[in-house]
Amino acid sequence: MRTKKRIIFVAGARPNFMKIACLLKECRRQPAVRSVLVHSGQHYDQAMSDRFFQDLDIPAPQYCLGVGSGSHAEQTAKVMTAFENVCRKEKPAIVVVVGDVNSTVAACLAAKKLNIPVAHVEAGLRSFDRAMPEEVNRIVTDSISDFLFVTEPSGVDNLRKEGHAANTIHFVGNTMIDSLITGLKKLHDADKRSWASAPLTESLKRYGVLTLHRPVNVDHKQQLKRLIAMIADVTQQIPVIFPAHPRTRKNIEAFRIQLPPQMHCLDPLGYLEFLSLCRGAKFVLTDSGGIQEETTFMRVPCLTLRSSTERPVTLREGTNLLIGDKIDRVPGLVRQILREKSRAGTIPALWDGKASKRIIRILVRAL
Ligand code: UD1
Repeated sequence: MRTKKRIIFVAGARPNFMKIACLLKECRRQPAVRSVLVHSGQHYDQAMSDRFFQDLDIPAPQYCLGVGSGSHAEQTAKVMTAFENVCRKEKPAIVVVVGDVNSTVAACLAAKKLNIPVAHVEAGLRSFDRAMPEEVNRIVTDSISDFLFVTEPSGVDNLRKEGHAANTIHFVGNTMIDSLITGLKKLHDADKRSWASAPLTESLKRYGVLTLHRPVNVDHKQQLKRLIAMIADVTQQIPVIFPAHPRTRKNIEAFRIQLPPQMHCLDPLGYLEFLSLCRGAKFVLTDSGGIQEETTFMRVPCLTLRSSTERPVTLREGTNLLIGDKIDRVPGLVRQILREKSRAGTIPALWDGKASKRIIRILVRAL
């Protein structure tokens, strides 16, 4: 006979793993519930997935759906079909989805069609740019989720404006920051000698970090060339370390773009290695969502190579600056940062390492 209620946690792509790690830990502490982890397989390379499980101490998933890469519709449909089977078998009391990737919306849809309550962690974020696939994923996921767990005040405002009932919105803080705090503690004991970036950071001492993977920046030759020409300019002042996302690396090769000599291109890094790299950087240039939050917490200046952000608290309170299409401004901004003319910012409310605890408490109470 089954006594414990089950909570399924779904993760699929790299930015999901740091959002789910502490939730799973907290859930395992609760005697009345059992956690079941499902990995959709949206990201599957050792460097994009397995290494994050190791660094974040995430146990092996009970289910690996193995969906892999594909068009948006293919990926979403494959996750829905496979996840529906898992739900039928496990009969969970709640499904928890995190972030805004295709696996998030797909698992949410499949569960809701089986009348299973869904909790969305990182609800309410809006870039107001529906050309971003993630924005569509966020809107759809929030519109049918039963528990909306929010990381920053803008999320609460957005959800209220969209007409969500107040008792479904929970401002709880940021589970990615829970993992970041744990990760920063672990960095003390980490064996950094084994890291691919170690000789580089040792020899460079001063460096900036670049990450790029948004389709709008890397899928079009002219835009990618323009960004790399700007980085070439930045490297006149300081070397730039660039752990390249597979999508970006493929396009650099396909478009035959030459990287400048002081732009050091690496394979994707593990979680702890990347944290260490960013913590030691003079600045980070990125088009990622999560890195805007991580740099705010670590008080590292962040220049975001996008026209909008769904994380406005990082602009208002943190170290983030939105570059928009004025990318020619970046070398000048880097010059200012190197003259120590950047603000340290403050850490947003409830980014205190306890978000996962708050979420699990609310879910267990609801069961
Ligand atoms: C996805 C998310 C994006 C998130 C990003 C983080 C969606 C719509 N996009 O974008 O929100 O910021 O993950 O990385 O869900 N590939 C590999 N190995 C892997 C995974 C992917 O080589 O392990 C390559 C494949 O060629 C694939 C391409 O990267 O076609 C893109 O992967 P995909 O998951 O479709 O989108 P991302 O750009 O990673």
